[in-house]
Amino acid sequence: MARARIGQKPAITKRRTETAARSTTKKPTARVPAKKSAARRKKPPMAERYDLHELYEQSVQAPAEDCKLFRKLFKKLRGREPLVLREDFCGTAQLSAAWCLGDKRRSAIAVDLDGPTLAWGRKHNLEPNRRRLGSRMRLLQRDVLEPSVGRADITAANNFSFCIFKTRDLLRSYLERARQGLKRDGVLFLEIFGGKDSIYPLVEERELDRWTYVWEQESFDPITHHTMCRIHFNFPDGSKIHNAFSYDWRLWSLPELNDLLLEVGFRDVRVFWEKIEEEDTDGDGICDGTGEYEDVTGKPVEQIESFLVYMAGLR
Ligand SMILES: C[S@@+](CC[C@H](N)C(=O)[O-])C[C@H]1O[C@@H](n2cnc3c(N)ncnc32)[C@H](O)[C@@H]1O
Repeated sequence: MARARIGQKPAITKRRTETAARSTTKKPTARVPAKKSAARRKKPPMAERYDLHELYEQSVQAPAEDCKLFRKLFKKLRGREPLVLREDFCGTAQLSAAWCLGDKRRSAIAVDLDGPTLAWGRKHNLEPNRRRLGSRMRLLQRDVLEPSVGRADITAANNFSFCIFKTRDLLRSYLERARQGLKRDGVLFLEIFGGKDSIYPLVEERELDRWTYVWEQESFDPITHHTMCRIHFNFPDGSKIHNAFSYDWRLWSLPELNDLLLEVGFRDVRVFWEKIEEEDTDGDGICDGTGEYEDVTGKPVEQIESFLVYMAGLR
């Protein structure tokens, strides 16, 4: 899946729990007329049959592509093979698992605050691969602002998660920590979006095989750049999961990130810009991103409706 526009992105607050979605009261088996019994066994709406993390992973993430991209960029920047990944704000740690499964020499440290999300990731992404992963992957429930554990070649903060930090001081603390957690030639990749659409309310739908993924940018404050974004899912039977995930963010600009990265001691900052397809291949009126990134550092770039970028901080 090529990731392209902000409409393909995730979130922070789970408004609706898996448990709530699935709660069914077990009825005592009784002698009831066949018709009534059949009615009772009617399938629940599709919205209640899906797991929120599964919906999220399949709608938003592309771990294999990300691993390929990070390896390629790191090799280009540093001239060697990256082996240790730190995945900050890892959620279900799908990226870390894909990283380790892609090469026996690799290891990963995946960090997130949220216990239940990590538990889901352990069950679905680690345990099924336990033999292949061995002890190469660590899941840590902690704040990314805490001192780093180990040293990574690459630290990735995907899907704009660092926008949770709404003040310059907090973001600077995070970037300092991230820098300390890197090897001497390590690279921090910060994924961020921007463009004309990013500063207005917007709803964008993307049809997937089994559901429609809906990205809503509910508000954007031009003074603070605080933005409220949400993810909803719509299903073919008409059922919906509204506010499946919500983000309360500050949308950081590229120059702000650039300046802060340098301020905390990164020696260089590079901007990798996602290439956009030349034609609207799926006919939805939008030229999607191709999943390929170009180093545009120091080059003139035109403003467009929506773009995805990796800012790379070189330690
Ligand atoms: C939008 S999800 C990102 C999931 C995944 N990284 C991705 O790319 O799709 C953001 C995650 O950040 C976590 N998070 C928020 N603040 C954090 C903090 N200060 N330290 C660690 N994790 C945090 C949340 O628990 C949530 O799982």
